[in-house]
Amino acid sequence: LFYDPRDGRAPLPFDPLKALVAPRPIGWISTVSAAGVLNLAPYSFFNMVCNRPAIVGFASDGYKHSAANAEATGCFVHNIATFGLRLQMNASSATVGEEIDEFQLAGLTPEPSLNVAAPRVREAVAAFECRYLQTVPLGATNGGEPVNYLVLGEIVGVHIDESILTDGVVDTAKLEPIARLGGSDYAVVREVFQMKRP
Ligand SMILES: Cc1cc2nc3c(=O)[nH]c(=O)nc-3n(C[C@H](O)[C@H](O)[C@H](O)COP(=O)(O)O)c2cc1C
Repeated sequence: LFYDPRDGRAPLPFDPLKALVAPRPIGWISTVSAAGVLNLAPYSFFNMVCNRPAIVGFASDGYKHSAANAEATGCFVHNIATFGLRLQMNASSATVGEEIDEFQLAGLTPEPSLNVAAPRVREAVAAFECRYLQTVPLGATNGGEPVNYLVLGEIVGVHIDESILTDGVVDTAKLEPIARLGGSDYAVVREVFQMKRP
């Protein structure tokens, strides 16, 4: 089958795009608001987009608290979402007012960061402290006001718990990162294979 997403709904019961771009890593973004309220939310339109400088980005469907806080305070933290924290990650996606502390909501502990004002999740085995770079409004080719915003930040601090290392190397099977698929599906990475470049 073929369809053009600009025409509206796909000719399938569920939008296939997210199921086809899978697995998507989950940016688990902690921020602090200008008023000092802690905020935490998952974003699966997320990735590391380059490594020199090291830049990550997440896309906000609507101008949500994470985007607003990152822009207002100049920073955010990406906490690695792992299988052991899947329920807390999901809890932090609840739609709540900006006055609600989402660390508390999800039963997690804020740990002060070293290079940015936003705290990280103490329970996460790895986290990137990021300095806000820019917000790119994402408009369609046929015009119309953009409703999505790509928030980019440079990594200025990396926390790694040594429990996920094997012989000094990050061991993905130990990390057990979770990722988003289509619908309500998730993946967990436990199996790894190697391939050398030609
Ligand atoms: C696994 C997962 C991935 C999500 N990915 C996105 C995303 O990429 N963009 C988005 O706008 N919302 C996404 N959401 C929904 C947000 O987490 C949710 O709207 C949240 O309340 C936003 O919080 P904030 O306003 O505190 O930033 C996702 C939710 C889950 C559970």
